[in-house]
Amino acid sequence: MQQLLPIIAILGGTGALGSGMAMRWAAAGYPVILGSRSPDKARAAAALIATGHGAPPVRADSNAGAAAAAEVVVLAVPFSHHEATLAEIKDVVAGKIVVDAVVPLVPPRVAVVQLPPEGSAGQIAQQRLGDDVRVVSAFQNVGAAKLQAGGPIACDVLVCGNDPEARGTVLALAAAAGTRGIDAGPIANAAAAEAMTSLLIGINRRYGVDCAGIQITGIAR
Ligand SMILES: NC(=O)c1ccc[n+]([C@@H]2O[C@H](COP(=O)([O-])OP(=O)(O)OC[C@H]3O[C@@H](n4cnc5c(N)ncnc54)[C@H](OP(=O)(O)O)[C@@H]3O)[C@@H](O)[C@H]2O)c1
Repeated sequence: MQQLLPIIAILGGTGALGSGMAMRWAAAGYPVILGSRSPDKARAAAALIATGHGAPPVRADSNAGAAAAAEVVVLAVPFSHHEATLAEIKDVVAGKIVVDAVVPLVPPRVAVVQLPPEGSAGQIAQQRLGDDVRVVSAFQNVGAAKLQAGGPIACDVLVCGNDPEARGTVLALAAAAGTRGIDAGPIANAAAAEAMTSLLIGINRRYGVDCAGIQITGIAR
């Protein structure tokens, strides 16, 4: 019997990264809800996303409403709104997987690593939401444009979280998005993936490209 795919809420799902992930997961058959500060904006974005493999049409809601209705909740908002979004969803995510794709960039020097005192955005999320929420940090090193372009992506996704089963769920999401997920251990390791994004932004600038990414060698593809 085919296993039911979990419902995914993408908070900030109208944005560059969130809409790219929504396109990929909806096409792979996952039920997706776009969360937004403006449900009208989310409805317009959802209407543009095609679904596949029997998935229902992409839905739209407020960030809190989307989080309440989903089994897996993805954070894809700017770091400046990370804390407020965690506070908004805290009461509705107990027992769920929260995937944190937020990179703690501090404008204007976004090509310089400036991690928060807590260590990483992923660790902030785990601290604020509590131990009954399984926070998994992932997708910081994949450019939104690559997700939106379609096709396989030559970039690995480092997946960090304290719960191995939750990491497994997110490894499957990485594969469904056309990338290769790599199990990178506990949430304390999220700092490395988040820091890498600033390096990639700087590499893009210095080499005049928009697609720098990472791949782990030594593991059969
Ligand atoms: N872009 C990438 O290639 C990429 C790659 C890896 C990781 N990331 C990380 O993913 C997160 C989202 O990146 P993005 O490029 O998709 O960002 P974005 O397009 O600038 O913003 C994403 C969404 O967040 C909401 N938002 C924007 N400003 C906000 C504010 N001040 N307060 C509350 N909500 C706000 C908006 O949704 P509503 O207006 O609908 O509420 C927006 O559509 C960031 O933390 C980024 O570092 C991005």
